[in-house]
Amino acid sequence: MAVTPEQLNLRGMVDIHCHILPGVDDGALTLEESLAMCELAAADGIGTIVATPHMFDGVHQTPEKSLIQARMAELRQRLNGLLEILPGGEVRYSYEIFQEAPDPQTKIRLNGTSYMLLEFPFQAVPPNIEMTIFQILNAGITPVIAHPERNKRIQEKPEVLADLVERGALAQLDAGSLTKSFGPEPYLSAKRIVEAGLAHFIATDAHHQDRRRPNLSSAVAVAADIGGIEYARAMVLANPTALIQDRGIPYQLECDMDALRGKRRKKSWFQFWK
Ligand SMILES: [Fe+2]
Repeated sequence: MAVTPEQLNLRGMVDIHCHILPGVDDGALTLEESLAMCELAAADGIGTIVATPHMFDGVHQTPEKSLIQARMAELRQRLNGLLEILPGGEVRYSYEIFQEAPDPQTKIRLNGTSYMLLEFPFQAVPPNIEMTIFQILNAGITPVIAHPERNKRIQEKPEVLADLVERGALAQLDAGSLTKSFGPEPYLSAKRIVEAGLAHFIATDAHHQDRRRPNLSSAVAVAADIGGIEYARAMVLANPTALIQDRGIPYQLECDMDALRGKRRKKSWFQFWK
């Protein structure tokens, strides 16, 4: 029987990928829209949102740290404690990463921790990505790969993601991929990644109040059907909570390569503590 969001006890979820800040990218347009999105998120059980405006994507102007802080302050004041907003960014794979990564105060870190949210182009995985992952790790930052299930190369060859995780990267699925908002390919890829135990986080990647909304619970219910309730809950509770507190990620599974290649469904999972 399918798991429902109500059965999952999801209060206090942490969303590590959300375009919640007004007027900085293609996310919320106004402070009023940001507030409406926060109300939707809080109603869904989300207690903390990491604001992740696009950075170095070649489309939007990368916001200065002072602008991020100013927009966060405005939002926090109006939220009056409804939920917590933390600073971060969705960092496009780019030359700027190498300049920014060594700076301990860099805005590319999620909530000033040793984690960053790293986005690839949608059509390809950059060449020499292994070297980039190594250099980022060497700078003391763990890259969290944003929505790998929406990347065409990883859809075709999921072993690419397994290799990056093996090297020390983590993986964040978009909620909309699991709920089929992006169509069949991202859903099938996300399903396979969960079956293989290769995902560490589910996040909203929300942009607006009326489309790409901030909702996690529906996707967690889908993930619970695929990979079990405990694993699904960990991807929105224990794991992102550890991330924003700059601790090791508690639920990490051994990758089931057969499940990843679609040869069989993952039957069991285990956790270990870093
Ligand atoms: Fe995003």
